[in-house]
Amino acid sequence: MKTIRVREFGGPEVMKLEDAPDLRAGAGQVVVRVKAAGVNPVETYMRAGTYAIKPALPYTPGSDAAGLVESLGAGVVGLAVGDRVYFGGTLSGAYADQALCEAGQVHPLPPPVTFAQGAAVNVPYATAFRGLFQIAHVRAGETVLIHGASGGVGVAGVQLARAAGLTVIGTAGTDRGRELVAVQGAHHVLDHHAPGYLDELLKLTQGRGVDIVLEMLANVNLAKDLTVLAPGGRVVVIGNRGSIEINPREIMRRDAAVLGMVLLNASRQELISIHAALGAGLENGTLRPVVGREIPLADAPEAHRAVMEPGAFGKIVLVP
Ligand SMILES: NC(=O)c1ccc[n+]([C@@H]2O[C@H](COP(=O)([O-])OP(=O)(O)OC[C@H]3O[C@@H](n4cnc5c(N)ncnc54)[C@H](OP(=O)(O)O)[C@@H]3O)[C@@H](O)[C@H]2O)c1
Repeated sequence: MKTIRVREFGGPEVMKLEDAPDLRAGAGQVVVRVKAAGVNPVETYMRAGTYAIKPALPYTPGSDAAGLVESLGAGVVGLAVGDRVYFGGTLSGAYADQALCEAGQVHPLPPPVTFAQGAAVNVPYATAFRGLFQIAHVRAGETVLIHGASGGVGVAGVQLARAAGLTVIGTAGTDRGRELVAVQGAHHVLDHHAPGYLDELLKLTQGRGVDIVLEMLANVNLAKDLTVLAPGGRVVVIGNRGSIEINPREIMRRDAAVLGMVLLNASRQELISIHAALGAGLENGTLRPVVGREIPLADAPEAHRAVMEPGAFGKIVLVP
């Protein structure tokens, strides 16, 4: 097999393509022939060695991919060799042309969804779903601000919230990104770099504010988010890259809540529920992952540089 290996923490260049022995499925395990692997920002923090979770070296990055079932270990039911699948989590790493998974990490990929789209499902869609439904407990008829709607999690959030009957306001930093957010179903789109753009948001909600914020960059936006919340509003902190000063009075006067989340905290039961919902959405076409860039597996360092640059446009995936 071909696999990206990290042998020391550092810049993107520490990721090197290597040959390795083919993987074998043990009891309850599945080997997937990877056709595309998703690139998530968290994989850059892990590679740099600055994240709370430090993988044991050497390791293969990545948790998300799609492909074909290549072999099954003893006791695996409900999957067959040749099935089209995506996975959420792996034992061996996703940046490779083969991956070893626990059977429970492997989910069917409905026919209209391409492998590249399948690689864009797990972390982005599971995070957006958990933020909306398991953390903020959104209800149809509420209004959500997706603060950073042009990237992986944001696009997923727009599609999920729109399908669930919310009014969706999304933000992006470029014209191209804003057009994407509108096409994905946002009712209103704002530029998160424009001065005073949140005043616009209050106008859009007749001064009431939004019921939910899905926040992709809390260290920049959390203080402002609190000022545009409706009574009983909830901010879900999904992305954060530093610290920020807030005025807690803004939370008090609205009976509001700031809720943090990390997808890794989802229980087994919650993950079963998340993937059941995502499978249904992929099947009925309400969930349509957007792949902005496909990059050859050997160029994984380029993918890590690109995912940290401004101007997001859906997902970046690696193709073995
Ligand atoms: N808590 C969790 O479990 C979890 C799970 C997944 C991801 N995350 C985190 O969530 C964040 C988003 O992940 P992703 O996969 O969607 O990343 P991504 O594809 O790189 O997208 C980043 C998003 O942030 C937006 N952004 C940039 N500057 C912003 C600003 N000032 N205000 C609001 N948004 C801004 C970008 O918009 P433009 O590029 O258009 O400016 C883009 O929409 C990352 O920090 C990631 O680490 C957390």
